[in-house]
Amino acid sequence: MKKAIVVYRSHSGVTRHYAEEIAAFLNERTVAAEVVSVGECKMESLATADFLLLGCWTSGLFVIGQHPDEPWLAFVREMPALTEPQPRVALFTTYKLRTGSQFARMRAALAGKTAAPQLELQSRSGRLSDTDRQALERYLA
Ligand SMILES: Cc1cc2nc3c(=O)[nH]c(=O)nc-3n(C[C@H](O)[C@H](O)[C@H](O)COP(=O)(O)O)c2cc1C
Repeated sequence: MKKAIVVYRSHSGVTRHYAEEIAAFLNERTVAAEVVSVGECKMESLATADFLLLGCWTSGLFVIGQHPDEPWLAFVREMPALTEPQPRVALFTTYKLRTGSQFARMRAALAGKTAAPQLELQSRSGRLSDTDRQALERYLA
């Protein structure tokens, strides 16, 4: 069975909920998905994952300057560089107005640590949409 790790950083719970919905969908698709916060994640577990989904709430000035927050960035700094076979990476975020530079900043932080992310999911509500489900199907395929 393929294994996925969904690692999230959430300030007030919305991104945690999104992470849990993503993991529930993966489990329905017979991928063994585990959800952990950046604080709980065991770095050694990352190397055993087929799929690594990394999420953080959008922090910024609402119209400009969106970025992942410091605990998420600190987690990525501590992450080992994942070598072959590298997990397939996806990013996710929740936001209120616009995600702006959020994904670019997440990708920049991850450069050299993981393969380039193949999927970016975003949600205002923290609920998985039908579009998200279709995108996740393609990511798993
Ligand atoms: C200090 C602060 C800054 C924020 N900046 C942005 C922003 O730049 N763009 C945006 O769309 N939402 C912004 N938001 C809204 C959050 O990204 C949104 O509420 C998110 O779903 C929170 O996720 P969480 O419940 O997992 O912490 C901000 C919220 C806070 C508290």
